[in-house]
Amino acid sequence: MRIDFAGRNVLVTGASSGIGAAMAREFASRGAVLYLAARNAERLAGVCAACEALGAKAEALTVDMASEESVDALAAEFGKRGVLLDVIVLNAGISQRALTFETATDVDRKVMETNFFGPVRLVKQLAGQIRGERPVSLAVTTSISGLFGFPLRSAYCASKHALFGFFESLELENPNVRVTFLIPGRINTPISRSAVLGDGSAYAEMDPGQANGMDVDKCARIAVKAISKGTRRKLIGGIELIMVYIKKWCPWLFFKLAGKVSAK
Ligand SMILES: NC(=O)c1ccc[n+]([C@@H]2O[C@H](COP(=O)([O-])OP(=O)(O)OC[C@H]3O[C@@H](n4cnc5c(N)ncnc54)[C@H](OP(=O)(O)O)[C@@H]3O)[C@@H](O)[C@H]2O)c1
Repeated sequence: MRIDFAGRNVLVTGASSGIGAAMAREFASRGAVLYLAARNAERLAGVCAACEALGAKAEALTVDMASEESVDALAAEFGKRGVLLDVIVLNAGISQRALTFETATDVDRKVMETNFFGPVRLVKQLAGQIRGERPVSLAVTTSISGLFGFPLRSAYCASKHALFGFFESLELENPNVRVTFLIPGRINTPISRSAVLGDGSAYAEMDPGQANGMDVDKCARIAVKAISKGTRRKLIGGIELIMVYIKKWCPWLFFKLAGKVSAK
């Protein structure tokens, strides 16, 4: 299986920045018809323009993934226009930089609403076009933090773990759906800036771990290729990916190391 994206309808959430914006450009260079979603209309317009400059059709649709009404309105747009999506990239997300006991539960919920319940609501609202015989690719941006716990990331890790269980089950129930879990390690994007502190305010700093991460365009090329091949799980990143194998094959060592790795 290899998907040719030319002329295919592709929705990317979290397309206004970072990995989503870079994936949008990569899909654009492959001739996809793009629907780009996020909250920030101005930044989305910039990404649309970049995709159009690559010869693709691209449209910006504002959505707040943490709001059911907003997610429902996004899904309804496709119904109104009769657009059948071939590829749905569930990528929007926020991170966290706060200790478990210093994170308010409404902040835990905000992270879960954005990273987990938003994508869940969206696919349920799009069920009419996802269920059936037509092949549909769902790409879900999780994280290596979805494969193990990590300091300062309890809610974030929880949200990313939850995505695996939900979307793997969805694939098993729907033979026409192929789910690709994109599992980045550290990618050079501004994600740490919007990460939430324990009181819900923004951390507002660029972490060195992020700044020294993999180039975002390289990440996007790997991600889009994985979707095109129907790869089920794709780890993307550098040396930090070793923690996945240490957790799997040598868990005692994981518990010695993970608390010592810089969480910033
Ligand atoms: N960068 C990494 O090292 C890394 C590693 C592992 C996983 N990831 C995952 O990769 C995905 C993309 O992150 P990134 O690194 O590209 O970060 P980013 O540059 O901060 O992009 C995050 C995107 O999500 C959107 N977003 C955030 N909250 C939203 C909401 N409530 N509703 C709609 N859109 C929302 C943002 O757009 P607006 O602000 O315009 O809404 C933005 O487009 C996330 O799911 C993240 O967890 C990243």
